[in-house]
Amino acid sequence: MTDQELVERAFAMLERSYVPYSHFPVGAALECGDGTVFTGCNVENAAYGSTICAERTALVKAVSEGHRDDFVRLAVVGRSEDYCWPCGACRQMLYEFAPDLTLLVARGDHTFVKLPLAELLPHGFGPKSLSQSE
Ligand code: THU
Repeated sequence: MTDQELVERAFAMLERSYVPYSHFPVGAALECGDGTVFTGCNVENAAYGSTICAERTALVKAVSEGHRDDFVRLAVVGRSEDYCWPCGACRQMLYEFAPDLTLLVARGDHTFVKLPLAELLPHGFGPKSLSQSE
């Protein structure tokens, strides 16, 4: 699958976003080593802090279906003029399972930038950090 095709899988998810409060739909598509793609959208809540982002929706779908250590690329998309940069919580959650993940971050015109997660979360805190405490 090309990068652009993965980005388009994420764009298809914008229709599923539940965004009555922000009116800011986000879509995500997470590719695994075997080619499986898990998609996600943001799902908001009247208790605003309970909202889950599109990237984390895709990630927890993948992990709950048995994928853990084979994530390759993640596309995250929105409709705005600026690129839809993943929030800090999503960067952290992705780092847990895929510190070497490649991100495709798109804006509303369907153009995207490709960069490693490590560039958005340098010196991340992960499972290895905990094992070095003793
Ligand atoms: N949002 C995401 O889905 N992913 C991000 O990385 C940034 C923010 C969502 C959460 C909320 O539904 C809306 O965008 C506005 O913050």
